[in-house]
Amino acid sequence: METDLLSKANQTGLIIITGIFLMFFMGTILLLFFHYSKKKIFQKELEKKELENEYQKDLILATLEVQETERKRIAQDLHDDISSKLNIVSLNSHMLTTPDLTHQEITEITGNIINMIGKTLNNSRRLAHDLLPPVLDKFGLDAGIEELCFEINSTKSIEVQYDNRVKFNEEDKNKHLHVFRIIQELTNNSIKHGNASLISLKFESVESKTVCTYSDNGKGFDSKAVRNKKTGLGMKNIESRIIFLGGSIKVNSAVNKGINVVFNF
Ligand SMILES: Nc1ncnc2c1ncn2[C@@H]1O[C@H](COP(=O)(O)OP(=O)(O)O)[C@@H](O)[C@H]1O
Ligand SMILES: [Mg+2]
Repeated sequence: METDLLSKANQTGLIIITGIFLMFFMGTILLLFFHYSKKKIFQKELEKKELENEYQKDLILATLEVQETERKRIAQDLHDDISSKLNIVSLNSHMLTTPDLTHQEITEITGNIINMIGKTLNNSRRLAHDLLPPVLDKFGLDAGIEELCFEINSTKSIEVQYDNRVKFNEEDKNKHLHVFRIIQELTNNSIKHGNASLISLKFESVESKTVCTYSDNGKGFDSKAVRNKKTGLGMKNIESRIIFLGGSIKVNSAVNKGINVVFNF
């Protein structure tokens, strides 16, 4: 009887110890499992962040590159179209100081000077216009885009249909220059890459945001292909401007289906 009781107590003890051991074992396994899955999630997040950082870095580099290209172009224009012409004006002015010039020579030299100054004025006006379209500055984004469309339409090889249902706020002027540059790049691409004959451009208000829908009927490109994910400088520059505007952009295109771009700000 006593031995019976003893062995029962032993058995219960064994069951309790095995139970505790099993619980401990399962607990350890669960802990290990959580630890590793957490580590995996953390690693995935880290990889995602790294990719994002790399993309941001890419965008900044692209923006800097665009800036440098733009500076180079302006420097070249200044050198070729302004400085070189002013040089000729300077030479001609010095020639006017030569003694004993005939009346005909004086007429010829002053003619040269007037001609060159006229050209230089035109060039400097064009340069300033490129840097900041005066109509955009004076009359706002809508008028600026109207003028851009007019300029494109007057080439007769492509038509822009512009439909604006938004009243742009005068206070957002510094934002509007970015929007204008985006439209300029998109239309340049439609002409240069798409060889399009029709462009449609629309602004509308959707839930306190301005949405711009842009499309062309040109050659298009496969926007889903990985090699096209990293597009050229122009598109990257558009993305940086969108980030500055605090908006978002979607670009959709397929071969022979034109391009469709929707962005908001
Ligand atoms: N409207 C369009 N029609 C066809 N292809 C386009 C269009 N816009 C962009 N692309 C394609 O996307 C590429 C990248 O454009 P972008 O970033 O503006 O570079 P780029 O400096 O060559 O203009 C172009 O080389 C072209 O292949
Ligand atoms: Mg381009």
